[in-house]
Amino acid sequence: MSSSSPPLSPRGAEEGEEDGGTGSSGGVGGGTVFSYGEAGYWDARYVEEGGAPYDWYQRYAALRPFVRRFVPPASRLLMIGCGSALMSEDMAADGYMEIINIDISSVLIEMMRKKYFNLPQLQYMQMDVRDMSKFSDESFDCAIDKGTLDSLMCGVEAPLSAAQMVLEVDRLLKPGGVFMLITYGDPSARIPHLNQPVCSWKIVLYILPRPGFKGNIRRSVFDPVPLTESGRLPEGFVLEDPDSHYIYVCKKGQELTGIDSPTLSHLKLQDSE
Ligand SMILES: C[S@@+](CC[C@H](N)C(=O)[O-])C[C@H]1O[C@@H](n2cnc3c(N)ncnc32)[C@H](O)[C@@H]1O
Repeated sequence: MSSSSPPLSPRGAEEGEEDGGTGSSGGVGGGTVFSYGEAGYWDARYVEEGGAPYDWYQRYAALRPFVRRFVPPASRLLMIGCGSALMSEDMAADGYMEIINIDISSVLIEMMRKKYFNLPQLQYMQMDVRDMSKFSDESFDCAIDKGTLDSLMCGVEAPLSAAQMVLEVDRLLKPGGVFMLITYGDPSARIPHLNQPVCSWKIVLYILPRPGFKGNIRRSVFDPVPLTESGRLPEGFVLEDPDSHYIYVCKKGQELTGIDSPTLSHLKLQDSE
């Protein structure tokens, strides 16, 4: 990470398990409540930081082997909740041609537009990942999320938000397209949200220690970690760094078309039932 920051969320702050006594769930770090699920929190944070670059979890250099393996440089790529990370800039420098960056914070998007006005590979749009209806079905080859699903998990109605996001990503990807999710959430906390009923992801998992981890990793981080039938880590799997980051590479099934995807109104209807 490029500077210090409170943890996005301890596990207990997800899905209302712990809400710091505020009545709305937020990430909690050092006794302070951070409302990572709310646009207002991010607007205020980006004003305070003045758009200074900040990469959550991992920098592109560490993620590059995975990105290059699954995302061809000519891909039309959606960067979800781009924030002020250098990830897109680094990818453009590495040959990626078309990266559409979205973020819920209008303050951030204005800053990034100004910063990157002379980098035609990068576009910036203010948008909520839960409703990306401005984009057509099957219009992207790849989508990358580093930390945004995690933010939604700290907000109100977290499971609904996660489902809306995952279904929107599924709708936007071409058959065979790739959704790369980089998160602190282990399979028991993330696979149930990825496996929405209409999605036919083929999921491959990688686990990276956090930057600066000093312990020994007794496996190659470039080898996929097997998952059980029920989407868990295998029994006896040793996680040397308990604060590892998980990379879920989700490939959209070839047989599905956007026509089969449920709409957002379908989801809202389900939620009100
Ligand atoms: C933890 S930061 C990660 C930023 C960046 N991806 C990185 O790796 O450094 C989460 C980002 O998601 C954005 N965000 C939160 N909720 C969102 C939503 N519903 N739709 C789009 N962006 C959202 C925030 O504004 C913030 O920039």
